[in-house]
Amino acid sequence: MTVIRSQIVGCGSFLPDRILTNAELASRLDTSDEWIASRTGIRRRHIAGDGERTTDLALKAAQRALKDADLPVEEIDLVICATTTPDETFPSVASAIQARIGMTRGAAFDVQAVCSGFIYGLAVADNFIKARQAKTVLLIGAETMSRLMDWTDRTTCVLFGDGAGAVVLRGSKGRGIPSERGVLNTKLYSDGRLHDLLYVDGGPSTTGTTGHLRMLGKEVFKHAVINIADSIESSVEDSGISISEIDWFVPHQANQRILEATARRLKVPGERFISTISDHGNTSAASVPLALDVAVRDGRIKQGDVVMLEAMGGGLTWGAALLRW
Ligand code: ACO
Repeated sequence: MTVIRSQIVGCGSFLPDRILTNAELASRLDTSDEWIASRTGIRRRHIAGDGERTTDLALKAAQRALKDADLPVEEIDLVICATTTPDETFPSVASAIQARIGMTRGAAFDVQAVCSGFIYGLAVADNFIKARQAKTVLLIGAETMSRLMDWTDRTTCVLFGDGAGAVVLRGSKGRGIPSERGVLNTKLYSDGRLHDLLYVDGGPSTTGTTGHLRMLGKEVFKHAVINIADSIESSVEDSGISISEIDWFVPHQANQRILEATARRLKVPGERFISTISDHGNTSAASVPLALDVAVRDGRIKQGDVVMLEAMGGGLTWGAALLRW
């Protein structure tokens, strides 16, 4: 039987120039490099410059992914941007990117699932491709989380950073067997009752302001390890691939200790988890495609490898996507 499978045919990423170190944060807040690094693994993060918008970061990542895919813009049917920090309440970042890459047909929209946004976007893109509503999709995760920070709140502002990552997905015909390249499955979950663990205290229909990120970190931590491990196990069960056959895990980069606890829970060597947390911090929807791009560029992820992407974020939302690179 012939089936359509979505393959990632190009990837790219972009980080703003400005680097904010733990030492710099410690000079203005009651915190220290030692506290931040030992509790989270984060040593520095990139911060968008004055006037640098989410769309600017997204555009650069998208251009790099399109170049890597070696596809003209005319081939793109759909642009999806996973973001929780759009330039404006509307229109979407995806619509702005559509215009800025010179795409004059097709569709564009944003996906909002906070740190799980890229996994949600990947599931949407994969389903559009499998339903033959799009052949080629540009999927971006882009954030300026620095704009949502309360810079006097040491429990949150030390954790986040800005950046963007992008992939180009393209449908290809195959037999639907695990050894073929492409997205093998995606798993999405949400539990809206857990709102109070992680939210922004503003918005268009409440305060009329952007608001600041608020988080009960310890609670989020516990849910993260359990939910991420569960979604990985569910993805593996459905795929016909065993967990030991997964070459690389590309997790959402929230906290090095979450990565290590997840690896322990799954009984997987921690070295198989790609970690960019020390240099990027938590870039929300951008973190998975940023880490993916780093590992592809440095040669760790190679054609034919089995790769598990996973994330959890505000909502709470969480999910996993299994693919053969
Ligand atoms: N510097 C120094 N001390 C600090 C800092 C800081 N930056 N932040 C908190 N502390 C203090 C606290 O006030 C507390 O002090 P107290 O004992 O006197 O009350 C102490 O350190 C311990 O605080 P905890 O919150 O218990 O620290 P914990 O070990 O849980 O680490 C952290 C906090 C890093 C936030 C962790 O809980 C975590 O990573 N949680 C998960 C976050 C996450 O995964 N987010 C992902 C989703 S993000 C999204 O969707 C947008």
